Amino acid sequence: MNFYKIFRPLIFKFDAEIAHNLAIKFLKFMPKSATLFCFNRRYKNLQTKLWDIDFANPIGLAAGFDKNAEVINVLSKFGFGFLEIGTVTPRVQIGNVKPRLFRLCEDKAIINRLGFNNLGAEDFAKNLEKAMPQVSYALGVNIGKNKDTEDMLVDYLVLLKKFYTKATYITVNISSPNLKNLRDLQGGERLDPFLMAIMEKKNELKERCKRNVPILLKIAPDLTPDEQEKIAEIVIKNKVDGLIISNTTIFRDPNLKSENTAEVGGLSGKPLFEQSNQVLKNIYKFTEGKIPIIGVGGVSSAADVYEKIKCGASLVQIYSAFVYEGFGLVERIKKDLSEMIKEDGLENISQAVGFYLK
Ligand SMILES: Cc1cc2nc3c(=O)[nH]c(=O)nc-3n(C[C@H](O)[C@H](O)[C@H](O)COP(=O)(O)O)c2cc1C
Repeated sequence: MNFYKIFRPLIFKFDAEIAHNLAIKFLKFMPKSATLFCFNRRYKNLQTKLWDIDFANPIGLAAGFDKNAEVINVLSKFGFGFLEIGTVTPRVQIGNVKPRLFRLCEDKAIINRLGFNNLGAEDFAKNLEKAMPQVSYALGVNIGKNKDTEDMLVDYLVLLKKFYTKATYITVNISSPNLKNLRDLQGGERLDPFLMAIMEKKNELKERCKRNVPILLKIAPDLTPDEQEKIAEIVIKNKVDGLIISNTTIFRDPNLKSENTAEVGGLSGKPLFEQSNQVLKNIYKFTEGKIPIIGVGGVSSAADVYEKIKCGASLVQIYSAFVYEGFGLVERIKKDLSEMIKEDGLENISQAVGFYLK
């Protein structure tokens, strides 16, 4: 029985952002006993290890759902192998004017132009501190810049230092389409010195804290193959630990059916699946599979997770599908995925990584 489907028509009567905020409030004040009804099955053939970190399964929550680290311990009960929180910026940021979040129900998609709205690094750190004693799972912190910061690098370095000892990994997000000029950082001439400075800081922190926290770069799906090749080259050169492919897209397929299609912002969900897979495949090839990749974009089933893994992803994240299917989806995916790899005669999911390109 999928309870979420019963409540979904009611939830969808609310404006999308109001519904999201209510969901966060609900999770925040949900009695602890309620989480006892959450399943969290373990499947040996889904366990995986990356950067020396154990993941119970390869399915994670993508950045943007819990921007302020408010409900991580509740979210962890829904069966995820890891969570990514943020994007957090150094200072509080209200984001773009509302409305700025839209459902595209007929297309199982979402458009957002939130613009890194968040409570800022101080409140984020306080929430994280409170949650930390119960955190026994992999937790990524996604960092970004404030809208009015001139020297973008400064914001990233401040946040890298602030969250280095708190996070399992840190994602450097330079691919939101909703912050003017942010994506320009992906261009070769700017990316190389930017990543050089980020990795220099990481190495300094690694030395000082005696701890290796992987640094991941999250990129857009709207890059040309030439730009993708350049990024792959720069990421290898600077020894970046991993990539997240991809953020939302500014591309609109003319076949989209929903009335909100023309809204400005980043599109996520089903229509992003093929586009993000293509970039994933290209980058896996350009990096010769040497850099672990988290695949994200349009995943809503075990078959979708499996496809991303075969394209080169070692881990996969989901966001939009939860809006349409609820968090019960994670357990359904795990069960089906475990069966699928058994049927294919594999002992572990990691054996399927990059299958299409081998
Ligand atoms: C409402 C919303 C807010 C998002 N906010 C962020 C964010 O703050 N930082 C980020 O890196 N990605 C953000 N994303 C992008 C997701 O992390 C993910 O890359 C994208 O939605 C594609 O996955 P999906 O098709 O499963 O939704 C957001 C996505 C949505 C739908």
